[in-house]
Amino acid sequence: MMKTINTLILTLVVIFAAVPAMAQGDAENGRKLMETCLGCHAGKVTNASPNYHVPKLGGQHADYIVAALKAYKAGQRWHPTMQANAVNLSDQDMSDIAAYINSVQ
Ligand code: HEC
Repeated sequence: MMKTINTLILTLVVIFAAVPAMAQGDAENGRKLMETCLGCHAGKVTNASPNYHVPKLGGQHADYIVAALKAYKAGQRWHPTMQANAVNLSDQDMSDIAAYINSVQ
């Protein structure tokens, strides 16, 4: 009986320790995932073609980045290029990217 309770407590501790880690995302993995994005998002506000505005991502809030990427993926926020970029990202990828973006200015 005692052993079962100990196992249960240990399981709960592991679950609660893992949840915030996932929500925060892995910035190092996010940096790798973002290599394809930097062609457009590396500059301040414009890319090589100054004809259209590319938002500066560095330092933006992680929750906002995840919400924006989900909206592109779901087609709720309409932008063909960004939809193409977001459609293959998993929720974990988005959290990782958001953690990285939030960590750079
Ligand atoms: C071909 C250029 C291009 C590439 C590549 C690209 N983006 Fe974008 N991104 C844009 C443009 C343009 C916008 C603004 C679209 C709009 O007005 O909704 C944007 C918007 C965003 C936004 C919303 C920012 C805000 O302030 O609302 C996020 C987040 C984002 N991109 C992340 C990414 C990520 C992550 C990748 C790589 C997986 C990526 N982008 C690749 C051009 C690009």
